[in-house]
Amino acid sequence: MTDLSLIGIGTGNPDHLTFQGAAAMRAADLILIPRKGVDKADLADLRREICARVLPPAGPEIVEFDLPVRDAAAPYLDGVADWHDAVAAAWSAAMTSRGPAPGRVALLIWGDPSLYDSSLRIAARLSPAPRIRVVPGITALQALTAAHAIPLNDLGAPVLVTTGRRLRAGGWPECADRLAVMLDGGMAFRSLPPAGVTIWWGAYLGMAEEILRHGPLADMAEEIAAVRAEARARHGWIMDSYLLARAAG
Ligand SMILES: C[S@@+](CC[C@H](N)C(=O)[O-])C[C@H]1O[C@@H](n2cnc3c(N)ncnc32)[C@H](O)[C@@H]1O
Repeated sequence: MTDLSLIGIGTGNPDHLTFQGAAAMRAADLILIPRKGVDKADLADLRREICARVLPPAGPEIVEFDLPVRDAAAPYLDGVADWHDAVAAAWSAAMTSRGPAPGRVALLIWGDPSLYDSSLRIAARLSPAPRIRVVPGITALQALTAAHAIPLNDLGAPVLVTTGRRLRAGGWPECADRLAVMLDGGMAFRSLPPAGVTIWWGAYLGMAEEILRHGPLADMAEEIAAVRAEARARHGWIMDSYLLARAAG
């Protein structure tokens, strides 16, 4: 039976990798590295750097493979389901590219596999089913709160983790006074009434390029929009996350 380890590698700083993650990498027979063509945001270089730092010279074999592209024209959930099927097929092909019995295979997962990551859903599509092991990694939210040196939650209070798409479509959800927002390519914070809201924003968290801003949303929204646009243009890609807090209702 194939063993598949999904190893969280953190959000861009090779030092985010845990000792447990490094040990799981060294114990693998095969490490798969996905590529997204010329897209700089595939961060394959970071995965290569982590492998170079952690693996001994005669370590596991490294196989790079091209990730299929998601059909952005299809309805979101249908498009994602088809894409997951295609990614599972690409994983299978990469896993068996060196022989029919791949043994212990490792995939290096951005952040942690549990948070806005479909690796576990894709792994569940593999046939024959491998034995799956998860090694936790530092998430973008941990990198964000650490960078700002803030707690995620207010005293005894809930935090809702959501996406830019949902925040834009539904406004501020009633169930929490703190929101952690990820996967927001469109700066959904600008769609909110800013009065009484504080934002802690971070881009390229954990990386040399890290940018942080925080303050009242009313003062910061346009500055963050400008900084974000400039950084995105300069680097060719951006990943950002933010925490919003409003006075308890
Ligand atoms: C597909 S999700 C992956 C999340 C990841 N599994 C985790 O544990 O953080 C991608 C989103 O994570 C956030 N993200 C990941 N890396 C980041 C970074 N270095 N800086 C800021 N946000 C990041 C962004 O909101 C981005 O849109």
